Amino acid sequence: MCPSKAGTELMGKLARKGTQLHVLYTAEEIAQRVHSLARDILAVMGPDLLVIPVLKGSFIFAADLLRALHDAGGEPDMDFISLSSYGRNTESSGEVRIVRDTEAPIAGRDVLLVDDILESGRTLAFAQDLMMAREALSVRSCVLLNKPGKLVVNIKPDFTGFDCPDHFVVGYGMDVAHAYRQLPYVGYIKT
Ligand code: IMP
Ligand code: MG
Repeated sequence: MCPSKAGTELMGKLARKGTQLHVLYTAEEIAQRVHSLARDILAVMGPDLLVIPVLKGSFIFAADLLRALHDAGGEPDMDFISLSSYGRNTESSGEVRIVRDTEAPIAGRDVLLVDDILESGRTLAFAQDLMMAREALSVRSCVLLNKPGKLVVNIKPDFTGFDCPDHFVVGYGMDVAHAYRQLPYVGYIKT
């Protein structure tokens, strides 16, 4: 997607250092939730699963979740897929494309897709369809954040960290125009 000039300027302004952020979920709240998600996942899927984070936004969540799965007795394998549905703007382009594909064999595996945030559902639906087409034994999904009321496709994540208010959120791996991924908490920009 090619953002408008005004859109690019806004993104640049927001991404500038010193912008006030409202904290939605602290690092401690996230850590607690991630550990309880790991226990829920293992109870349903068993220890031998293939975890596939949908990059880029999920990389910190997935790293913490993988270690929480280990703590809870899991023995997960991991591969990565990088999908893009956004340009540099905050509006979804509606189109999902593979930026980097998985390498591990998918056929016969119990796959857990991990994403940062479910909004329209297009990204996760695309990834699920792809894994089913590659003959995964089962495909489940875990999202850190669910923005209820924003779905345009019929999809329900199997595991959800938090139902999140309808703000454009950043931090804990999530960005606006490539900024703020490094924050240890999830927040949104105060306007
Ligand atoms: P969907 O395809 O509309 O469900 O969008 C999901 C993807 O869009 C997520 O994996 C994120 O990468 C991105 N996204 C959606 N909402 C936000 C947000 O509030 N902040 C940062 N990224 C977002
Ligand atoms: Mg994403």
